[in-house]
Amino acid sequence: MNEKFFGSFRTIAALELPRTSMTPPFEGVLGECYSAVVGADAHDLQWALDRLGSYPGTVLDLCCGGGRFLTEAVSAGHTVTGVDISQDMLHAATRRMASTDLGIQSRARLLAGDALTLDLEETFDYVILGGLTITLFGTEERAALLRTAARHLKPGGQLLLDYSPVEDPQEDHTGHFTVPVAIGDQRGFYDVGWSWRPNVRQSVTNTYCELVDRHGVTDRYLSAFSFKLFTGAEMSAELQVVGFEIAQVSDVDQKPSSPDVVHDLPPLNLWLAAELTAA
Ligand SMILES: C[S@@+](CC[C@H](N)C(=O)[O-])C[C@H]1O[C@@H](n2cnc3c(N)ncnc32)[C@H](O)[C@@H]1O
Repeated sequence: MNEKFFGSFRTIAALELPRTSMTPPFEGVLGECYSAVVGADAHDLQWALDRLGSYPGTVLDLCCGGGRFLTEAVSAGHTVTGVDISQDMLHAATRRMASTDLGIQSRARLLAGDALTLDLEETFDYVILGGLTITLFGTEERAALLRTAARHLKPGGQLLLDYSPVEDPQEDHTGHFTVPVAIGDQRGFYDVGWSWRPNVRQSVTNTYCELVDRHGVTDRYLSAFSFKLFTGAEMSAELQVVGFEIAQVSDVDQKPSSPDVVHDLPPLNLWLAAELTAA
């Protein structure tokens, strides 16, 4: 059994029920659930849009997911390239973009790519790494991700990113929320749980989706992933190694993304605007 499952998720995994798939969190059915829940989340979007300002700029949305930020930024007049490694996420972003006017869509470009090695041979006014993306990677990969951001920024450009801050010492914390989902002719629920362990700088997220079709056949999807927690000093040190200097810091409360979601997530994400210092 995957040791990263905890609480009721561990119990479900141990049951080994029929038609249970262990899948990546941002692919397939779990990817659709994630996009639906996080896609409705706007707690961070306004902060990022305010940083871009009203002058139309060029933006690289690294690990753009379902296009949550990309759609808002092109609608606000910016020209945005979104890159993600997951075809499912890119399809979700394409569907989201399709709900906007054609004129707006012409300012968006979606590309499949690995953000750790990406080199588009062009530079942008802004690079955004949203949705806690940087925290999903290991130490070496985070450095590679930040180097990708640096490689794609114009002189004086800004990197916008968020992370979940911790302070020493802080209590461990677990929680979860459940939302109803409907995909095709299947209906069911999506359960998201987290085990927040600040002293080891890690939070583990478990997700479980159960979908029942009209014949009563049930499909089950389970996933576990962890993300890294940082103190402000630790985050700042990682940025500095790659040549970024923190220009601005803002606390952004994580609010429930829909009326169906009741949760007690840790109270804030921290958003940073970082500028490349001269080499
Ligand atoms: C937590 S989601 C954030 C999505 C989006 N930025 C948002 O704020 O909603 C992380 C995203 O990173 C993508 N991803 C993971 N590894 C990647 C890689 N090496 N290159 C590009 N995208 C990657 C996943 O497919 C997923 O869409």
